[in-house]
This record gives sequence, structure tokens and C-alpha cells, in this order.
Amino acid sequence: MSSLPQSLRRSTLALGLAAVSALAVAGCTNEAGNPQTANLVNGKKLFVQKCGACHQLRRAGTKGLAGPNLDAAFSVSRQEDWGDKAISGVVYGQIGYPGIGNGMPAKLVTGDDARDVASYVGTVAAKPGKDVGILATAVPTAGPAKTAVAKNGVLSISADPNGQLLYVEAKAEAPAGPIKLEMPNKSGIDHNVVIEGTPIKTNIVKNGVAKGSGTLKAGTFTYFCSVPGHRQAGMVGKLTVK
Ligand code: HEC
Repeated sequence: MSSLPQSLRRSTLALGLAAVSALAVAGCTNEAGNPQTANLVNGKKLFVQKCGACHQLRRAGTKGLAGPNLDAAFSVSRQEDWGDKAISGVVYGQIGYPGIGNGMPAKLVTGDDARDVASYVGTVAAKPGKDVGILATAVPTAGPAKTAVAKNGVLSISADPNGQLLYVEAKAEAPAGPIKLEMPNKSGIDHNVVIEGTPIKTNIVKNGVAKGSGTLKAGTFTYFCSVPGHRQAGMVGKLTVK
């Protein structure tokens, strides 16, 4: 079910709960994830931007592979009838204290933002169905994939601005010959474009425009993001050179 051994998972959950009760004892007014008062729209947006590149969460549409799938991680808790709030508490603890050297940076979100993210995950993880109401449109879903067409010697392929692991253009067309490759990336997540089977690639950039150049030969090529896990999650496209 989870990619983590059960014993490890249990200790992660126990740690999360310990963090929650520590907060309760401290009488902290910033409650650790209360789905009733939290801003779930803000939580969903931030989850996609800050967490989704490493975690799958079906309702948020995120596909990251570096960390555990959060629906799988909390499916046992749901079966055991944990409420949204209890799961939010575990997530809140994990955000603040992910543990040392396990690959998850601490405090990616803080204060009310951390509460909102934790509450969103607690509200949707391991639940069937899809987000409704304002939550459904909190994060613009990538529309049908577009086609990038080279103009004046420049081929521009954008990364999803909301932080999902995909390119806005899943197809691209360019003439054979010298090309400048660009990847506008408005998200805060590192990405690049590599054209497989050629030396052409951009540098890795977040919140900016990645650039590269080279000479294209006629044929069909795959382009992808070489940041670990991103290609597998869907950052891939087809380039046709004529
Ligand atoms: C750079 C990748 C990365 C990012 C970004 C990241 N995580 Fe993680 N996360 C991991 C890894 C790796 C683990 C597994 C190690 C562990 O359990 O601490 C993990 C574990 C977790 C767990 C525990 C799951 C379980 O099986 O018990 C939760 C909950 C979680 N992350 C939530 C979040 C939230 C919320 C965010 C955004 C604020 C986030 N993560 C951002 C990599 C990441």
C-alpha cells in the first residue's frame, strides 16, 4: 500500500501526533490544521506549488514521485476512521519536523500557510471523488496540451505555471537547422528541457526562463525534464523536426 515499511510509517505518524499534542500543550492559537477554519483554497494552491513536485495527491492532481503517495500514506488512517483533523495534524507535524536527512525540506510553508496546507491534505487525502465548489477551480488545471511552433529560430516550451509536473506544450515543431530553445518557468520548482538523442538542452531554472541552443536534424525526438522523477511524472513531449 505505502512505499514505506509499515513500522517506519507508524513511527512517522507517531511523531506527527507527538508534534500536535506538543502544540496543544503549548496552547498555540494557530491550530494544527483545522479544516473548519483553514483557508483550503490557499492550502490547495500552496500544496501544488510547494509539495506536489514530490508527492502524488489525487485530488490535487499532483504527480511527484520523490516522496510517498499521500493517498496511499493515509489510506489505512481513513480505514481506521481517522477524521480530517487528525490527518491534518500529522501533515502539520511533518511540515514542521520532517526528520533529518530523509529528503523532505522542513518548513516549506509556515504559520497560517502551513495550517492551510495541512488542512487541505487532511480534507482530501485517500478520499474518493473530486474537489468541488471553489476548491475545484483553486488551481487552474492545465488545459489540453498545446503545440509549440518555432518562430524566428526560437522554440519556446513552457513549464506548467502552477507547479504541476508537465509542459504546457506536449508537442513541438521546428525546422531543421540552428535553434534557440527556451523554457519559461513561472513555478517555483526546478525544471529544464532536454531533447533526447541530441546535445541540445536548457539549464535548470525556477521562476525564470531556461535557455539552450544547438542544431536540429530532421526527425522525431522526445523532450523531457531531467530533474529526477519529473519525466516519469509526465514532463515529456514529442518534437517533430522537418
Ligand atoms: C523535495 C521533495 C519533497 C517535498 C517538496 C515535500 N516532501 Fe513530503 N516527503 C518527502 C519524502 C522523501 C518523504 C518520506 C520521508 C518521510 O517520511 O519523512 C516525505 C514524507 C511526507 C509525509 C509523510 C507520509 C507518510 O508516509 O507518513 C507527509 C505527510 C508529507 N511528506 C507532506 C508534505 C507536504 C504537505 C509538503 C509541502 C509543504 C511536502 N511533503 C513537500 C519529500 C518531499
